[in-house]
Amino acid sequence: MSLIKEMIKKAQKEKYAFGTFDTSNLEVAQGIAWAAEAKNMPAMIGITESAVDYAGFLSLIGLVRGVIVESKADLVLHLDHGKDPKFVKKCIDEGFKSVMIDASANELEKNIEITKNIVAYAHKKGAVVQAELGKIPKLDTSVEAGVNLKQMEKTDPNEIEKFVEKTGVDTLAVIIGNVHGMYKPEGNPHLDIDLLYNLRKKVSIPFVLHGGSGTPSEDIKKAIKEYGIINVNIDTEIRIAFMGGLSDFCMSGQMVTDPRKVLSIARDAVQKKVEEKIELFKS
Ligand code: G3H
Ligand code: ZN
Repeated sequence: MSLIKEMIKKAQKEKYAFGTFDTSNLEVAQGIAWAAEAKNMPAMIGITESAVDYAGFLSLIGLVRGVIVESKADLVLHLDHGKDPKFVKKCIDEGFKSVMIDASANELEKNIEITKNIVAYAHKKGAVVQAELGKIPKLDTSVEAGVNLKQMEKTDPNEIEKFVEKTGVDTLAVIIGNVHGMYKPEGNPHLDIDLLYNLRKKVSIPFVLHGGSGTPSEDIKKAIKEYGIINVNIDTEIRIAFMGGLSDFCMSGQMVTDPRKVLSIARDAVQKKVEEKIELFKS
């Protein structure tokens, strides 16, 4: 059984979640890996299409794979929010064992059709597939462009059985009040636990929670313990930690000529943030 399949099974059985933490550079990837190692917990290191636009496909997956090989932790390279089916297939061909096909911008039937096609392709090659049902909005900074708060469409309990059955997907990202980016006062800070309860009654598939940044810890704990969320995605809080590390250094007024001296401070800040999240997801 592949590592990711084992991770999903164990998290389901023991009622905890592992994190998916996104990266577009070496230092964030290392911060994630070092945190997972320090906490002795598995994790996924996620890359997105926009991260690939920034860093280059082979460069990015090469560096993440290197970090994974050099780590003692159980880590899996994951494609997060793959919107272009051709790109998702390219990742599978490159050996990804975990991908997300995010066809959620489409109507139900189209989402089913695209997801089903990727699932068939992935399963032949031993990869697991995550899909999304509903539309997650974005606040401020996000891995996902072009969605705003008004466009939130929570996962419909009347659609979930059909979606899971027809697509054969392995895990499902549910939209239950979660948003990408940090919450603002006008946002909706709480997960809709009643909806999660209704969704859980319909299907037994492991659920994934996106938009983990800024979500109240109590909501996250409840969603994990009681309703089978086995994976929580974090991006924005990692970016903030990284930038916080950089800006603290700049504010200190020190001058250095070696970028590693500054980047390692940002890397430590990422590690600390990821450790905090891992602790929350397993509690
Ligand atoms: O796919 C990535 C996550 O859903 C990130 O969400 O930026 O709110 O942490 P976040
Ligand atoms: Zn997401």
